[in-house]
Amino acid sequence: MNTFGNMDFMNSAFNTGAFVSAGGNVMVASWGFVGVMWGKKVFVAPIRDSRYTKEMLDKTGEFTVSVPAAGSFKSELAFCGSKSGRDYDKWKETGMNPVPAKAVNGVVVEGCARYFECKVLGMLPMGDMDISAVDKWYPTGDMHNFYFGEIVAEY
Ligand SMILES: Cc1cc2nc3c(=O)[nH]c(=O)nc-3n(C[C@H](O)[C@H](O)[C@H](O)COP(=O)(O)O)c2cc1C
Repeated sequence: MNTFGNMDFMNSAFNTGAFVSAGGNVMVASWGFVGVMWGKKVFVAPIRDSRYTKEMLDKTGEFTVSVPAAGSFKSELAFCGSKSGRDYDKWKETGMNPVPAKAVNGVVVEGCARYFECKVLGMLPMGDMDISAVDKWYPTGDMHNFYFGEIVAEY
């Protein structure tokens, strides 16, 4: 089964959230895209300026996405999606188990349904986009940055 043959994972990933890990930290993202560009499979992860994960992405150039089965990992998603790795060791606090990734140096969350391992090809800050509801999504100016990750492993 390949990424684009089965998009069911998107129901889970982009509704309740998926774990995005970089540099040993883990956060939650529920926005994102998969597609094909430059002859590669690409995962685009929108990460806001304020996230510790952004620092880790810029430092390591790699990230993993661990997609839980629908309805699972509820308390872990809530914790990792609201607390920063600057303040907490989220593995320790949630009891989640980090497992070494197969094709990048990072880790994935044990027990999820689907995994993507990505190498960052580049990043684009949002810049001056004509978003009709800027006030709704960006009241504090904490903008998204689009990280383009080449999918180097998926399982
Ligand atoms: C369901 C859900 C979806 C989220 N989606 C995103 C997202 O797509 N991009 C983002 O930057 N933050 C998103 N967040 C917020 C981060 O996960 C949250 O701010 C986290 O504490 C950041 O952790 P860090 O500072 O350790 O990177 C989401 C949170 C939840 C609960």
